[in-house]
Amino acid sequence: MTYKRYTITAALPYANGPVHIGHLAGCYLPADIYTRYLRSKGADVKYICGSDEHGVPITIKAKKEGITPQQVVDKYNKIMGDSFKEFGISFDIYSRTSSPTHHNTASEFFKTLYDKGVFKEEITEQYFDEKANQFLADRYIIGTCPKCGNENAYGDQCEKCGTSLSPTELINPRSTLSGEKPVLKKTKNWFLPLDTMQPDIEKYIDSHKDWKPNVYGQCKSWLNAGLQPRAMTRDLDWGVKVPIPDAEGKVLYVWFDAPIGYISATKDLTPDWEKYWKDKETKLVHFIGKDNIVFHCIIFPAMLMAEGSFILPENVPANEFLNLEGDKISTSRNWAVWLHEYLLEFKDKQDVLRYTLCANAPETKDNDFTWKDFQAKNNNELVAILGNFVNRTLVLTHKYYEGKVPDAAEYTKADVLLLDEISKYPAKIAASIEQYRFREALGELMNLARLGNKYLADNEPWNLVKTDAKRVQTIMNISLQISANLSVLMEPFLPFTAKKLSTMLNLNEGLKWNDATRTNLLLSGHQIGTASLLFEKVEDETIAAQVQKLEDSKKQNALDNVAAVEPAKAETSFDDFSKMDIRTGTILEAERVLKTDKLLKLLIDTGIDKRTVVSGIAGSYKPEEIIGQQVCILVNLAPRKIKGIESRGMILMAENNKGELSFVAPTRPDMNNGGAVK
Ligand code: 2FM
Ligand code: ZN
Repeated sequence: MTYKRYTITAALPYANGPVHIGHLAGCYLPADIYTRYLRSKGADVKYICGSDEHGVPITIKAKKEGITPQQVVDKYNKIMGDSFKEFGISFDIYSRTSSPTHHNTASEFFKTLYDKGVFKEEITEQYFDEKANQFLADRYIIGTCPKCGNENAYGDQCEKCGTSLSPTELINPRSTLSGEKPVLKKTKNWFLPLDTMQPDIEKYIDSHKDWKPNVYGQCKSWLNAGLQPRAMTRDLDWGVKVPIPDAEGKVLYVWFDAPIGYISATKDLTPDWEKYWKDKETKLVHFIGKDNIVFHCIIFPAMLMAEGSFILPENVPANEFLNLEGDKISTSRNWAVWLHEYLLEFKDKQDVLRYTLCANAPETKDNDFTWKDFQAKNNNELVAILGNFVNRTLVLTHKYYEGKVPDAAEYTKADVLLLDEISKYPAKIAASIEQYRFREALGELMNLARLGNKYLADNEPWNLVKTDAKRVQTIMNISLQISANLSVLMEPFLPFTAKKLSTMLNLNEGLKWNDATRTNLLLSGHQIGTASLLFEKVEDETIAAQVQKLEDSKKQNALDNVAAVEPAKAETSFDDFSKMDIRTGTILEAERVLKTDKLLKLLIDTGIDKRTVVSGIAGSYKPEEIIGQQVCILVNLAPRKIKGIESRGMILMAENNKGELSFVAPTRPDMNNGGAVK
């Protein structure tokens, strides 16, 4: 089907921290390339984004910094918006969900569903932190993921396996506010009945088998597991107030309000917003990262279906994650390349990062960004291929013809074939872009530059000029045409370089994508501008400085961890210490203590005897993996009854600052049981 217009969205980033390369590679850059391409095709397209200013990540940040949530979002909305702009992310609007338009739009949307009787009103038990006197929604609660065992899964989602969760599914839940185990408390909330909507959602997903396999696959696995009703309201005070009676102290679930943010941003952009959301001839595409799949493919479409007057997403091209130097990007560990810092340190080099991130985009699997690779992509590809070709062409044109495009006197057979090949590039690159294969598309763009480079190298106009000036005119004319086509076709990927090249060639500004099917964009006699280098080499020192910066942040992290260590206890005497009889032993048996999260019942060979010890290590070790493990055990501790089991002794454990435990054990393999620990 052909579409009259396009609504392109990129996930609204939480306004609780600056933008890093993982965000860019995940959705903002691919969506920008897609939109710029569509604009170049002359399409009616709006690229919509803004910051997601509600939800627990914001309030947690505010608490940490000792400021209000509003101050947090004001600060980061500006930092993010500015750096996106400077990086050439060409949103038609960068809005925010704390805006009045958004509050009204989200309220109205909820009210419409409420009036239609869509929601199920239910009193359920939700986790409550008695110390903080607060319900613990979403990210206020962490625990072990029931699917993959990640011990730091959030109440709404496990970031490790991508599973969407509800707090009560977490094993061993704990409050992120106080670290305490929460209690269950009754509260009323409004649920979207995804269970009864499943057949319609299934039909919708099944009509999109063309989606990327990671996206379609995740949707199918959700559907196969059976959809559950999901609360669309929360007992929190930061967010869009629930606009119905009897909902005091409640706000809309952030994943209810955030995607509506796309609609409100479009309203802020144009009074014509409805045609971008309600006309069947509009193609709606959501660019996101893989952790957002279920919200955009199942929950938001379910909301739109229930409302009834909106179109549904036609595609949701989600990327996997980008790692940095082999490690997961992490804001809290400062393991990231921050966009605002890059823009300061690499002045006018936006396109180098755009190029590296696109060439390495995590389209089908997680990928790694390394500074070495950044340098190699710049020096070996942008400088050596694209920059070199264009520079040789322009410099020779100035040298031989005072910057005037020479006549193509006569084409050889090879020239004709080459021109034909060149004219196919717009369609080739477009086909990849339209299938959301941006790496492949960029590869094709570079192939065009390679073609130009090879043409110059094969024909050696610098040698031929002495003997066959006429032939050189044709060679240079063709090289200039390739440069002009490159300038049009590179625009979605490398907009700053495209502008620079188009100025250097003194090209007509209004050229569109399909113009690059022609190979005569520059007329004979056309005067080109001054030539300057498109790209500069990135030196080893520059890369070393960036690697050092990351090393420093690793060191700083280690120091921060040390600072978090508890102070020493009061002094004790050697006599007191030597009263403790600590021995080496071996775990012979291990099993979980029923109805507990933390306890394991162990049978230990202490060398003296075989005895039972109950130990609170189930959060860190599985029973089957510790059989045969050597340990250190305090054997003269008075016996204690734990959960009805007599525990005789205590295993020595070390604890890190995440609360994870490790055995304190002999490191030599030949330590017999019963040996004294002193
Ligand atoms: O994961 C995130 O960063 C969310 N703030 C994305 C929201 S996308 C949309 F629904 F607004
Ligand atoms: Zn998980």
